Amino acid sequence: MTQQSHHAHVQGPGGGGPEQNARVEQMKRSWQQKKRIGDHLKRIKNKIAVYSGKGGVGKSTVAVNLAVLLAKQGKAVGVLDADIDCPNLLKIFKSDSEPAMVDNQIIPATMHGVRVVSMGSFQRNEEEAIIFRGPMIHNSLTQFVEMTDWGDLDFLFIDMPPGTSDAALTVMQMMQLDGVIVVTTPQELAVLDATRCINMIKKLNVEVLGIVENMAGDIFGEGGGLDLSKRSDVPFLGSIALRNSFREPAMPVSLIDSDVRSEFEAIIDRLAVPVG
Ligand SMILES: Nc1ncnc2c1ncn2[C@@H]1O[C@H](COP(=O)(O)OP(=O)(O)OP(=O)(O)O)[C@@H](O)[C@H]1O
Ligand SMILES: [Mg+2]
Repeated sequence: MTQQSHHAHVQGPGGGGPEQNARVEQMKRSWQQKKRIGDHLKRIKNKIAVYSGKGGVGKSTVAVNLAVLLAKQGKAVGVLDADIDCPNLLKIFKSDSEPAMVDNQIIPATMHGVRVVSMGSFQRNEEEAIIFRGPMIHNSLTQFVEMTDWGDLDFLFIDMPPGTSDAALTVMQMMQLDGVIVVTTPQELAVLDATRCINMIKKLNVEVLGIVENMAGDIFGEGGGLDLSKRSDVPFLGSIALRNSFREPAMPVSLIDSDVRSEFEAIIDRLAVPVG
């Protein structure tokens, strides 16, 4: 180590001690990473996360069905499964198309006209547990994002894991989202969780594009989504009924059930985003 570089290490450009320099370095790295990801994703017109406070409310279902219908309308659409340790997006797509690796780049699988990337494709068997700790989740997600060649897209839907986990925060902070769709079921408790998650999104300065109420009907009730939208002053995008047709479908339900398709098409119509 030369005298000069040793000096630079101790007394960095900020003039602080080693600890402060390390902090500055860390900030610089994460800024550079953010910039790199921004450049890498600049051919995607709308990056929209599908999110909920609670698990199992239908985020993946909503992401997949919006994606396949937009693709049918001629849009270029992708879906990223951001649930790194519990990837189950592929089960809803019901397709065995595989992604390809070319020159260290992931070329997404194509499922019902949608470009799809999920950690599930890289799992050797479905029951295998994928265990990641916080920093690994952050790294594998950002690596996933940086390695994927999406091409030109009108929409990229990011299927989020539930709650305010590391992965969720990483997506919110790194992907420079155009907005978030919040999914909730009609019950009061689920709506409370959704309120919390809307507040988190707002705090991170990301736009809430609207609320989708899922599993509406006699069993869980309905109207919770609309109430929530009024209370939190974000648009209501529509309601999807609880239906039998979601049980073991051969493909995304909106492609085989015209009632479900109408509900999702109504949501697409209300989704006010730059690409019409
Ligand atoms: N409207 C509906 N009617 C009936 N079943 C539904 C409906 N929407 C979703 N489901 C079913 O509920 C289950 C959970 O849905 P989904 O996997 O989309 O939720 P999720 O929010 O993505 O869950 P997770 O938090 O685990 O990622 C699935 O089996 C799905 O088929
Ligand atoms: Mg899911």
